[in-house]
Amino acid sequence: MNNLVLTNIKQLIGITENSKEVKKGNSQGDVQTIKNAYLVIRDGIIQDFGQMNDCPNTELTSHDCTNQLVMPMYVDSHTHLVFAKSRSDEMKMRLQGKSYQEIAEAGGGILNSAKKLHKMSEQQLYNDAHLRLEQVIKSGTGAIEIKSGYGLNIEDEMKMLRVIRVLKQLSPIPIKSTFLGAHAIPEEFKNNKAAYMYLVCNEMLPRIAGENLADFIDIFCEIGYFDLDDLKQIIEAGDKFGIKAKVHVNQFSSFGAVQLACSYGALSLDHLEVMNKEDYVALENSNTLATALPLCSMFLDIPYSPAKQLIKRNIPLVLASDFNPGSAPSSNLNLVFALACSQMKLTPEEAFNALTYNAAFAINVQDEVGSIQVGKKANLIITKPANGLEDIPYWFGENMISSVIV
Ligand code: NIG
Ligand code: FE
Repeated sequence: MNNLVLTNIKQLIGITENSKEVKKGNSQGDVQTIKNAYLVIRDGIIQDFGQMNDCPNTELTSHDCTNQLVMPMYVDSHTHLVFAKSRSDEMKMRLQGKSYQEIAEAGGGILNSAKKLHKMSEQQLYNDAHLRLEQVIKSGTGAIEIKSGYGLNIEDEMKMLRVIRVLKQLSPIPIKSTFLGAHAIPEEFKNNKAAYMYLVCNEMLPRIAGENLADFIDIFCEIGYFDLDDLKQIIEAGDKFGIKAKVHVNQFSSFGAVQLACSYGALSLDHLEVMNKEDYVALENSNTLATALPLCSMFLDIPYSPAKQLIKRNIPLVLASDFNPGSAPSSNLNLVFALACSQMKLTPEEAFNALTYNAAFAINVQDEVGSIQVGKKANLIITKPANGLEDIPYWFGENMISSVIV
């Protein structure tokens, strides 16, 4: 709806005056709210809001929000939404006790996804991704990042990134793309990782950057995948094109990737299920955001990232879905919200900021979305009747969204 007045809003949640700084430490849980509020939308932009008593008379259509909460839509700063097929066949192996790594070794995992993607046409890939995106928006996501990384050769990586570009062009919500060529080592390069890294940094990236197909660059730093030297190469290669890094680190092991990425000024470090003392210190002394992915922890039955500890140490926290067919086959940020509270012990306010305001910084859309602020896009969630913000994580697994405005 491009022009509209929302009236009698029980609580208007997530108000900011400007979006200059991320929220961390004590301010991670600062959420400004107006009770009994109105909000004016013109040309899809938040034009005005305030106490219901001050609601202006306008010619605009009005929508009554009695008993309902209105808040900014979530920002999903880490997804692999473009993929070929489900990997539900891995579920059985997982239930038999096989780990993520064992499943990958048995022919599942990222390489399996890459095989499937290779066979799929660009059009089909787009059609499926488009349907997923529609679902994502319905569940409250109002801006999203999408990674490549299931191509693992130049043609297929570019195929994925072109699909993301079309999504960007046609989607009603802001989309950012991330080049994740270094997601797994392809079979042909099994014994020559250096040659694959050369390909990623010196052939894939220049072409991708040349066609403006990537906003960010990423790498999966993990034993059996990519190491510190590869991480350094990726960040330096990205720097040449002015492309900032958002990196998969510390999902299963900690070996210095956090320190290295922080020293290079990475925008965001994602996963962080396994953290040691040096990792905290590096994050504390950097401007890098920490992104936790609780759906992955739930699905793989691995530890949750120590989000409370990150906040305590004044490290800005972001929450995202990691939506992908291998480790997090869900895009539902309402469930992320619930897990962040029930499992990671965040307050609803801390989790809310991690999913909205801070998340916007993790993909550089903080001037457009992520809070109720005059001039930002009116990408809004209107909840079902609720007492307050805590109702969303409380009614976990239920749909508390009445409608979204995009
Ligand atoms: O973020 N960890 C690496 N990448 C994805 C999983 C990819 C897959 O298994 O397909 C993740 O969890
Ligand atoms: Fe991921």
